Amino acid sequence: MTSEPDIDTAAADLRRQLAHRLEKDGRLRSPEWTAAVAAVPRHLFVPRFYRESDAAGVTTWEPVTPEIVGQEEWLRLVYRDETWMTQFDGRDIDWADPKPISDAAPTSSSTSPGLVVRMLEDLGVNEGMNVLEIGTGTGYSTALLCHRLGNGNVTSIETDENVARRAREALTRSGCTPRLLVGDGRAGDRDAAPYDRLIATCGFRNIPSAWLEQVLPGGVILTTLRGWMRSLGLVKLIVTGDSASGWFSEDDPSFMIARQQDAPESLGMVPGPGDGTKRKATYGPDVLTFAGSAFMAQLAAPNARFFSMPVDSGPVSTFVLDSVTKSFVVLAPTVSGWQVRQGGPCRLWDAIESAVATWEEYGSPNTAAFGVTVSRDQQVVWLGNPNGPHWSLPA
Ligand SMILES: C[S@@+](CC[C@H](N)C(=O)[O-])C[C@H]1O[C@@H](n2cnc3c(N)ncnc32)[C@H](O)[C@@H]1O
Repeated sequence: MTSEPDIDTAAADLRRQLAHRLEKDGRLRSPEWTAAVAAVPRHLFVPRFYRESDAAGVTTWEPVTPEIVGQEEWLRLVYRDETWMTQFDGRDIDWADPKPISDAAPTSSSTSPGLVVRMLEDLGVNEGMNVLEIGTGTGYSTALLCHRLGNGNVTSIETDENVARRAREALTRSGCTPRLLVGDGRAGDRDAAPYDRLIATCGFRNIPSAWLEQVLPGGVILTTLRGWMRSLGLVKLIVTGDSASGWFSEDDPSFMIARQQDAPESLGMVPGPGDGTKRKATYGPDVLTFAGSAFMAQLAAPNARFFSMPVDSGPVSTFVLDSVTKSFVVLAPTVSGWQVRQGGPCRLWDAIESAVATWEEYGSPNTAAFGVTVSRDQQVVWLGNPNGPHWSLPA
């Protein structure tokens, strides 16, 4: 076993290498954030974690601790530009006897340093700014904020009590004492408001109205929006009084959805063979999985989810179910394309096909062509400009 001072020396070296790599690939763009990456000991925030296994088949995560992989390898992995999982299905890991985990959804992690610093750079902070972070997680990103802005200018909210307690302990060990709260970040925190900047490291289905109230005019809200089928990506909104507006980024980083907004467990009722009305489909189920059109499908059918399965031992059909409005789509292959059968109050496939056709008319642009405007009464994603084609975010 390496001694503590040796770990500290090796970790400092690995941090400098990480900062150098992030500078080279353009994620670190300012000396202040470079200094923060070189200073914050990520190994205090991820003393144990899970990584995805390479094995084929069902996604499985395997535990990584100094005892399991050896101290040197553990430290090397800690300082890789990777997201490391620290909790699944909201349940704490039994670290006395950690086992591989499959068939579970990650619910807390230390986001890859590259994505964290890219977002922090995008946030555009200056000395003395007051920042609210939603999703403390392990506390690593909180510690970077403390290094840059000082403890007194950082508030971070984590919804999971045990995750929050561990983050507080790690932050204290690393010498950081920001304002830490346990709760639903959608409410923000009035006591330390107003904020110059708000950054969320979990995804939301819409922008909580409290954020608009608590961020100063001219301030920035940086968050990922996400739906139940896929992430919509990262948006940077500038607050102007009681509304906010801004653009999606070109890449579409994805975060785990806020706990309170996770999809209901039941997908909804599978329709019977005679339900709904039929027509020839213009698009097949591929539009639900191809990145650009899937973004449109998510906008057009915000409460829907889909799966494919053989019907009556015949060919595979795709079911799109909306458990909120009880609407459905069944896409079945025919000799000349796809047949769609839809029912319920929302014509889901009509809405998806119309959104995909609009996107194609505009030249199939990537997410950077889209923006978001939110006000007290409505929240819309638009294409091209705020008066262009638009789709409402779910209330
Ligand atoms: C990707 S992790 C955060 C990573 C973290 N910033 C880091 O560097 O370690 C997302 C975190 O958001 C938390 N979370 C989910 N919903 C939340 C909510 N409504 N309010 C506050 N935190 C939430 C999760 O429990 C999880 O710990």
